[in-house]
Amino acid sequence: MNLSIVILAAGQGTRMKSEIPKVLHKLAGKTLLEHVYHAASALKHRDILIVYGYGGEKIKTQLAHLPMTWIKQAKQLGTGHAVKQALPDIPDDDLVLILNGDVPLVTSVTLKQLVVAARDTGFGLLTSTIDDPSGYGRIIRNKKGKLLRIVEEKDANEVERSICEINTGMMVIAAKSLKRWIKKLDNKNTRKEFYLTDIIEIAARDGATINTIKPDSPVEIRGINNRVQLAEMERYYQYIQAHQLMRRGVTIMDPARFDLRGDLEIGEDVLIDINVLFEGRLKIGNDVSIGANCCIKDTIIADNVEILPNCVIDNAIIGSGCRIGPFSRIRPDTHLDENVHIGNFVEIKKSTLGQGTKINHLSYIGDTEVGRDVNIGAGTITCNYDGANKHKTIIEDNVFIGSDTQLVAPVTVGSGATIGAGTTITKNVKAGVLAISRAEQKSIRNWKRPKKKK
Ligand code: UD1
Ligand code: CA
Repeated sequence: MNLSIVILAAGQGTRMKSEIPKVLHKLAGKTLLEHVYHAASALKHRDILIVYGYGGEKIKTQLAHLPMTWIKQAKQLGTGHAVKQALPDIPDDDLVLILNGDVPLVTSVTLKQLVVAARDTGFGLLTSTIDDPSGYGRIIRNKKGKLLRIVEEKDANEVERSICEINTGMMVIAAKSLKRWIKKLDNKNTRKEFYLTDIIEIAARDGATINTIKPDSPVEIRGINNRVQLAEMERYYQYIQAHQLMRRGVTIMDPARFDLRGDLEIGEDVLIDINVLFEGRLKIGNDVSIGANCCIKDTIIADNVEILPNCVIDNAIIGSGCRIGPFSRIRPDTHLDENVHIGNFVEIKKSTLGQGTKINHLSYIGDTEVGRDVNIGAGTITCNYDGANKHKTIIEDNVFIGSDTQLVAPVTVGSGATIGAGTTITKNVKAGVLAISRAEQKSIRNWKRPKKKK
């Protein structure tokens, strides 16, 4: 039997108090909808259909990279109405897995079990028993435990509200039966919506057997309806990621102060101090240490690298043995070869630095090619921008640049050249020479400092 997967994502998410559709809010850097999509797409399936509505075009553009069928629900008349919009695109002999776009942490393992549970009777429902069921639909069973119906919290009486077994919103139903039952839904309830959940009672009356299963962890089924729940879920997710990394041999000084919004491939004996934020795609080698308060994005870091506290690194390649920071900023398209040292208040952009080169203090290096074993003194600036265009600076091997030098690009400094402190370089410097541009120093004898008038 083929599997069609329907993800409901048309609602506004009123309780988020946001212009952005709820499913586009992010958990660990990825939209809620993408989390659900990725769990679902791990199952063998024929198609994934996303029911969208509120903020529609926004959702489509943001998820344009994922293969799926878009189903428009013009008016948000309820979850039952939403599923109905997708049914014309689903063949009668498919199984249909229905998911909510706002329940991000469900695992593909659980979803597979749910599909298996639905195989013999054509109906499987994922429920969960939780301490605080508020906000969820409650599962109503008879004395023998047979599932009778689901009652939404807003329509429930006090006794029903005290039930702790809840509807996760996730179910698998044979398409043919679903199409038959869905016609019978009405909106005679508090919210005046066509509830998908009413299908349980319709199916049960029709003699269907509904198999229920529960997930391994109740967190998997937690829906996000407001920003408090989003923040709680974020911390939980980060905690899980930190624990997985620690088990793989990474030292994390405080898993409660660790954030990974993306994918991290990491070696052994890496130490991550507090408040480090990783984003995007990252690769880190062995024996690397990362100091407190660093933000590192889309970067490759080789072995034996030391990153001191308070560095911001974006889109860079860092060679083995490099030492960076504290307070360094490495901007996109920077490539550091082995054993490069970058010190405090140094900014590097779109530049390559050769082996053993050192820039230890207060410098800006942009659009520059630096050779190996170059020493760049404090306060050196590549003047790469003339107000209209960017220009390149080339600094060859073994160059020594004195402090407070400006290199007005485009310019080349030949290998082994020395630049005297305080120099403004405007012309190419030949290999091996000393270049210096400095007003001669004068001494004025008996100089009297001005005094304040009384
Ligand atoms: C729903 C269930 C509830 C369950 C809970 C689990 C119903 C009636 N209630 O309640 O039993 O415990 O999920 O999290 O199904 N949506 C649409 N179109 C609509 C309305 C909603 O696509 O017209 C989408 C929403 O974007 C959301 C999902 O359906 O992704 C669930 O809607 P929501 O309003 O959050 O339902 P809950 O009140 O959480
Ligand atoms: Ca919800």
